[in-house]
Amino acid sequence: MGTTPDAVIEVERLTKRYGKLTAVDDLSFSVSRGSVTGFLGPNGAGKSTTLRAILGLANPTSGRTRVFGTDYRRLPDAPLRVGAVLEASDFHPGRSGRDHLRSLALAAGIPFSRVEDVLLLVELEAAAGRRVKGYSLGMRQRLGLASALLGEPELLVLDEPANGLDPEGMRWLRDFLRAFAANGGSVLVSSHVLAEVEQTVDRVVIINHGRFVAEAALAELTARVTSTVRVRSPEPDRLAGLLTADGATVTVVGDALLSVSGTPASRVGEVAAENGVVLHELVSEETSLEEAFLALTQDEEAAS
Ligand SMILES: Nc1ncnc2c1ncn2[C@@H]1O[C@H](COP(=O)(O)OP(=O)(O)O)[C@@H](O)[C@H]1O
Ligand SMILES: [Mg+2]
Repeated sequence: MGTTPDAVIEVERLTKRYGKLTAVDDLSFSVSRGSVTGFLGPNGAGKSTTLRAILGLANPTSGRTRVFGTDYRRLPDAPLRVGAVLEASDFHPGRSGRDHLRSLALAAGIPFSRVEDVLLLVELEAAAGRRVKGYSLGMRQRLGLASALLGEPELLVLDEPANGLDPEGMRWLRDFLRAFAANGGSVLVSSHVLAEVEQTVDRVVIINHGRFVAEAALAELTARVTSTVRVRSPEPDRLAGLLTADGATVTVVGDALLSVSGTPASRVGEVAAENGVVLHELVSEETSLEEAFLALTQDEEAAS
């Protein structure tokens, strides 16, 4: 496989073993420019290990990773072009947020004015003078993001950034990442909870037990979500016949109650109206995306 021109990250048959444990198992996927890609999988799936390999912090047992078409460790200006926040980022607890960022800026040759810019960007300016030890987990996440943004990166790699964020913080992160991508940036963001990134990502890569499970645009994943329609009518048998003739799959569940799949609730209502069938109830029961995600990862578990 050669390099994919529009890919900012390529993971190619990556395997990482720790002794007998295979943390990442022959995993391949890519992240395209200008997209927000969700990297999903339950705890222990191998997400952090993969991200560490991408960032040159873990040596692959086999396979390779590329960032902007090259090995991260050979990428010129890597810390400026790629902003990363790994799990459990360590901060000197006695330092203020501002001092933490200034020390990073100093090491990278970035002017202190940029520190003030990123503090504003992550809305941490009010707490910037306080010691990090008094920060909430959400504030630490923002500080981590601020350090990742110092070099004005084109690519963000974030490991479970939604951890510890309250709903308002989640909304803020979502808006921030969408805006980052809208300005041409690319994002790879991991999470073990699909709901956390559902409204942020364009596409998802799902892994489990270190192995690839699925890769899809969010819309495709949503389309895979099956929906059933629950419908109650005093004429269940007649309605069942009409819906079956219309192409739906119908199960008579109980007294005057049908479970219909393969057709939307709107069509069930139309068929009933066209034939003068009275309805007492019409409910669309969507499987949530989270349920679809769990089903995908459980299928994988059953198969292994
Ligand atoms: N440095 C390490 N040494 C040994 N085992 C590790 C190491 N890092 C991760 N693992 C193991 O690899 C597996 C995948 O871990 P990880 O990549 O952290 O998963 P995730 O981030 O999806 O929760 C886990 O079983 C974990 O215990
Ligand atoms: Mg992890």
